[in-house]
Amino acid sequence: MTLKEPLRFVCLKPRAMPNSTPILLIGAGKMGQAMLLGWLASDFLSIQVLENFPSDTLKSLPVDINPSTVTINENQIVILAVKPQNYRDVLDEHQANIHPNAMVISILAGISVDALRGALPGRCIVRAMPNTPATIGQGLTALCAPQDISDAHSNIATSLMKAVGEVVWVENEAMIDAVTAVSGSGPAYLFHFVEALTVAAINVGFAPDMAETFARKTITGSAALLESSEENAAQLRENVTSKGGTTQAALDVLMGEPSLQSILLEAVKAAKKRSEELSKI
Ligand SMILES: NC(=O)c1ccc[n+]([C@@H]2O[C@H](COP(=O)([O-])OP(=O)(O)OC[C@H]3O[C@@H](n4cnc5c(N)ncnc54)[C@H](OP(=O)(O)O)[C@@H]3O)[C@@H](O)[C@H]2O)c1
Repeated sequence: MTLKEPLRFVCLKPRAMPNSTPILLIGAGKMGQAMLLGWLASDFLSIQVLENFPSDTLKSLPVDINPSTVTINENQIVILAVKPQNYRDVLDEHQANIHPNAMVISILAGISVDALRGALPGRCIVRAMPNTPATIGQGLTALCAPQDISDAHSNIATSLMKAVGEVVWVENEAMIDAVTAVSGSGPAYLFHFVEALTVAAINVGFAPDMAETFARKTITGSAALLESSEENAAQLRENVTSKGGTTQAALDVLMGEPSLQSILLEAVKAAKKRSEELSKI
């Protein structure tokens, strides 16, 4: 695989965050609530939430929902987690609730730092791209910020996103499109693999629900093995492949033409292109 520029990641170690830092979450849908649960489990205490239609789960949490007065001071951290198509109206509505020196972390897909800066002049804007395993604390979030972000702000952003999984800082915003195509959309690729394996299992004689159980458990068990092993994926594959055996027969098909690799190359390229297009709308 060739890339125009190498992927460069910088990992930061999180430091303890003062729990009194006022956090304002705007939008507590699927991803907003996932982050909220992670923050509560990590003892972040001062959380206020602005949400149009708070769910029963949200209402049961020890957070201040749609407060009459938002805590606004220069330590304020705002997390923007509404749908991208709504963000201009939302920021117009909540502009007065965001301190001029606040750090705003946006998880909005396809909305650039420049666009957010235009809507929120003067604020420190950080882009975050989490993925759906964040809902069980197993996410992978890429973070991207302007060069002049303070250590205090970058440490707080790291701590907040660490509450729902791993965190990686990327050096330039263009990488967010690549991240979206790999880890952002990636869970759907794996879910589709399970669907495809289920159909293949039915084709060789399984009843449908048994086929799904076998496909699902094979993938989750293998993912857990990959997670716990020090060997890389290629080595783990070789470990279960004997020459002339059944796995080899299947891999000859998967690695032949068109190979799974070539299909994935095209799929990831298509996702990255779409992410780039969306950021220009
Ligand atoms: N889900 C993922 O896996 C994922 C991954 C990476 C990034 N993201 C990004 O995360 C963001 C949120 O995604 P999601 O899946 O969590 O969407 P979602 O479930 O639709 O959540 C968005 C929430 O924001 C609320 N909202 C809308 N306008 C508001 C306002 N003016 N004030 C307060 N709350 C308002 C919505 O309420 P209503 O329903 O009333 O509109 C909704 O509950 C999106 O920008 C998406 O690009 C999601």
